[in-house]
Amino acid sequence: MTTAEVDGYGVRSGYTFGYYRQLSPTWLRLVALSRGVPFPAGETLRYFELGFGQGVSLNVHAAANPGEYWGNDYNPEHVAFARQMAEASGANIHLLGDSFEQLAERRDLPQFDVIVAHGIWSWIADGTREAVLRFLDERLAPGGLLYISYNALPGAASGIAVQRLLHAVTASMDSSLSEGERFDLARGYLSNVAEEPGNHFDGYPKARERLDRILGGKSPYLLHEYTVASWRPELLCEVSAQMKQIGLEFCGSAYLDPQRIVTLGAEVNEADLVLEETLRDFRLDRSFRSDLFVRAPLGSARLATVGELNDQVIALTAVPDEVDVSPADPEAQGIADQVRTLLEKLESHTPSRLRIGELLRSGGEATGDRQDLAALCVALNNGFTHPVAASDCAASRTSSERLDDFLCATLFREKQKQLRVSPAIGSAANLSALDEELIAYANQPQELMSRLAIREQGKQKISAVQTLKYAANFACLVKIYQTLALTRFNKI
Ligand SMILES: C[S@@+](CC[C@H](N)C(=O)[O-])C[C@H]1O[C@@H](n2cnc3c(N)ncnc32)[C@H](O)[C@@H]1O
Repeated sequence: MTTAEVDGYGVRSGYTFGYYRQLSPTWLRLVALSRGVPFPAGETLRYFELGFGQGVSLNVHAAANPGEYWGNDYNPEHVAFARQMAEASGANIHLLGDSFEQLAERRDLPQFDVIVAHGIWSWIADGTREAVLRFLDERLAPGGLLYISYNALPGAASGIAVQRLLHAVTASMDSSLSEGERFDLARGYLSNVAEEPGNHFDGYPKARERLDRILGGKSPYLLHEYTVASWRPELLCEVSAQMKQIGLEFCGSAYLDPQRIVTLGAEVNEADLVLEETLRDFRLDRSFRSDLFVRAPLGSARLATVGELNDQVIALTAVPDEVDVSPADPEAQGIADQVRTLLEKLESHTPSRLRIGELLRSGGEATGDRQDLAALCVALNNGFTHPVAASDCAASRTSSERLDDFLCATLFREKQKQLRVSPAIGSAANLSALDEELIAYANQPQELMSRLAIREQGKQKISAVQTLKYAANFACLVKIYQTLALTRFNKI
């Protein structure tokens, strides 16, 4: 019997080193507030990440936020790397090497205010899901929030057959081959089949698109996605029914949604919300969902948090001139100009942060304008802006700087864009590295321009207009670093 058949997952190779800002407490707080759901505000926030993978997200959140951070993953390679980061930052973090089954049996754990499970639910066997549900049932505190992401139907249906085939083929291969070698062989078979006339992929264009991604993609992610023994996409209404059984109520997607913001006033009925969202998944052919659940039958008693929402401060996390408000983003259709205006408004402030209430005012009047609200959601959902943490304590500053040093020296050493750990947003932003020599001239446009021109002309001829643009973008980047409390530039 292969390992995959024993526990329903079975992939033992290391996973990717991804960071997911939607798991950060500051993000989850904003999404909860936007739905009229209060964010748990005990003395110490207790946070748990199920199956943390390499542990980059968990470590960033533990370093950049106050609170107690816990997580588990049964892959020893993952736990070892997560420990290295934790030792570097000195953050308050507990890393467990338990399986989900072992975790559910433990009696020595506290209750948690927030539990997150990213990329776990669809990839584990039924028995393991039951263990996860037992853990959630026992360990999510009253009023606590669950973030859960999963492969969603109908969109993920295009992957079911190909995933099962890849699993079956890799599981039947000689175990002296590595997981990566088996996967590459299996991809080779698929690629040959896909060229034969009348093959399966000819009749299913979405399955062919997926196949192209499988054939062209990198294997650590794909191995974990496509060779696990259990890969079960579900409809949102099916996932929410399972959560309902343990007393968790669906609050909506874990992203900002202009149609579901409490300021618009509509009262929410959970059953209607689940149905509407499930139908929307069909409209948009969604293949992946990230959702928020709360342990409390709030029903119609949702709190009106408009004031709190308007008071939430938002920081600029990308240079407006460099962002691509992509026409491919369905949320951004027709409002690219509003998104840019909003980003420029933030940029014009020093530091580049504003309360939502101020950001949504044009010409001093509250607009209540749906397009403005939609632009704010696009800017947040795409990572151009980020909610600012409620409290920025000195300990988070020190641990963030230490983790930042570690990540810059290891994972991001060669990268021009780096994840920078920020205690100001309790999260990490993907930013271009700053050029240390030019920092001193960020507020002297003429000097900055001439230095940039001298530097850039060595590489290529650039016009005065381009130089001006580079200088403005560079000055904006410096401001973003300052806004995010990334004040130690000397290590860049
Ligand atoms: C697809 S990866 C996602 C990792 C991480 N959450 C992320 O998104 O980067 C799934 C993770 O679940 C872990 N895992 C799978 N089955 C498990 C089990 N039964 N107990 C504990 N961890 C498990 C794997 O080791 C792997 O790190």
